[in-house]
Amino acid sequence: MSQFFHMLFGTGSQFRPVPGSPKAQVAIRAYRSSDENVCRDLYRLNEQGRFPPDYEPDFVRTLRRNDYLKVIAEENMTIVGVGAVCLVKFLRRALLAFGMVHPQWHRRGVGTALLLARAAALPEPSPRWTLVLSTLSGSRSFYERFGFTKYGQHRDKIRGSRFDDHYAHLNRDAWTECHRAAAHLGIAATSLPDVPQMNIKNNGP
Ligand SMILES: CC(C)(COP(=O)(O)OP(=O)(O)OC[C@H]1O[C@@H](n2cnc3c(N)ncnc32)[C@H](O)[C@@H]1OP(=O)(O)O)[C@@H](O)C(=O)NCCC(=O)NCCS
Repeated sequence: MSQFFHMLFGTGSQFRPVPGSPKAQVAIRAYRSSDENVCRDLYRLNEQGRFPPDYEPDFVRTLRRNDYLKVIAEENMTIVGVGAVCLVKFLRRALLAFGMVHPQWHRRGVGTALLLARAAALPEPSPRWTLVLSTLSGSRSFYERFGFTKYGQHRDKIRGSRFDDHYAHLNRDAWTECHRAAAHLGIAATSLPDVPQMNIKNNGP
């Protein structure tokens, strides 16, 4: 049966919180508008070879949207990563966007901390959330560690870029485990604001 069917009906891939071995002392907090320039720098440092040249405005738009929870990872008061999440409650979906880590901090546990914190910040699943995200290149194997499976592909009709779409189901046990794993990393995800409901009207170009 197709992965698209599994994504829709809640069968198939389950989210596995993999705490990993943190090599960074990361603190997670909510994004503030004053973080925008540093986050743009993170984007530009990661841009080459990963994102098409004209996607920075999409990234900035997501940072400015108040229907996404944006989380910041800091080490010693330095911003080293950012990620966003929002909910589409009637579809029981949580959309993860722009998980991004400063290249000098890659493979030190920051991306994992950002992912676990966003999953743990979701309301308790009843019975599940379907986590959905799109990747352009390079990060697929990172997300596969957590159980994400590709269910399709979509094309940006204006700019032509192709994105791979992935899903993983987050049930109550995995969500509880995310809290444990986040706490293990010293992250109190409960101190983050609630994950907002997506405002579809904000999805235009
Ligand atoms: C993808 C990304 C967020 C991962 O964050 P990270 O902090 O490097 O990842 P972590 O240290 O938490 O986990 C690393 C582990 O994931 C796995 N992994 C697989 N592919 C990976 C990849 N492309 N990048 C990083 N880790 C990867 C490895 O097992 C690695 O562990 P190891 O170093 O012991 O082998 C980060 O590399 C990044 O910002 N990439 C550029 C931007 C991007 O592509 N974002 C995704 C947009 S959809």
